[in-house]
Amino acid sequence: MDLGLRGKAAIVTGGSRGVGRAIADSLLREGARVMISARDPKRLEATRAALERETGGEVRATAADLRHDAKARSLIEATLKAFGRLDILVNNAATVMPADFTTLTEERWAEVFEQKLNGYVRCLRYAVPAMKGRGWGRIINLSGLAAREGGSQTIPVGVNNVAVLNLTKCLAFALARDNILVNAVVPYIIDTNIQDETMRRFAALTGRPEADIRKERVADLAVGRMGRPEEVADVVTFLASERSSYVTGAAWHVDGGACRSI
Ligand SMILES: NC(=O)c1ccc[n+]([C@@H]2O[C@H](COP(=O)([O-])OP(=O)(O)OC[C@H]3O[C@@H](n4cnc5c(N)ncnc54)[C@H](OP(=O)(O)O)[C@@H]3O)[C@@H](O)[C@H]2O)c1
Repeated sequence: MDLGLRGKAAIVTGGSRGVGRAIADSLLREGARVMISARDPKRLEATRAALERETGGEVRATAADLRHDAKARSLIEATLKAFGRLDILVNNAATVMPADFTTLTEERWAEVFEQKLNGYVRCLRYAVPAMKGRGWGRIINLSGLAAREGGSQTIPVGVNNVAVLNLTKCLAFALARDNILVNAVVPYIIDTNIQDETMRRFAALTGRPEADIRKERVADLAVGRMGRPEEVADVVTFLASERSSYVTGAAWHVDGGACRSI
């Protein structure tokens, strides 16, 4: 299947590792030009160089902490300068972790939204006008299964991820007539840094061994194993492509069958 991605210009936030890195890799292999972004400039540049070497694609990097509006604006501006256009935005950067709700102070609660949702909104604020100008766009927002399945320690994760789903659905309606399609991807237990840290947090919050937590959570997956970042990237790449032209406002689960509801 020709995905029609050759020459398209994409941003992948949180592209320095994990799921974001795999998405950047996949888009590059399909011929898209990709701007990756994250906070740590050293790791970002190392990933950029590795992706360039491994895929032979055109990949740039801009360090940006998306908790700041000016950084999001600079990221979109740098992309437009580098590629002359912006066709695809993958909102993926996040640091949101499980926490005990009762110990979240007013300040920590405000931070909860900075860790994911607000960064996505900032990128959208500057990316959407650029896409509207060309009459074509694809936006993919990484959510997570805690959006749909509640847990006593996953309130910060869940409120971010459910807000991302609502944002996705509403924007899909707002932008469809501009030929900009907006979809969410809903991963669960993908083998990355955030997942390792999540396991450690669950162990600390429950006072149980991390190995037991890991075993139980993986056993709960229908497929009986953790997901790989590349398995999320394949779905995102389809949604970013010309081939997804009748798909908008949807939430695509990549969760190893963990979600029990229909
Ligand atoms: N892995 C899973 O099992 C899982 C499950 C459900 C949902 N998800 C979602 O999937 C997405 C990717 O997760 P992942 O597992 O790939 O995470 P990860 O391995 O921890 O990577 C996170 C990426 O985001 C960047 N980042 C974090 N905070 C940032 C900020 N404020 N500004 C800019 N960049 C920032 C990180 O780089 P720096 O630290 O250098 O900034 C890194 O590149 C996230 O939205 C996550 O919530 C993952």
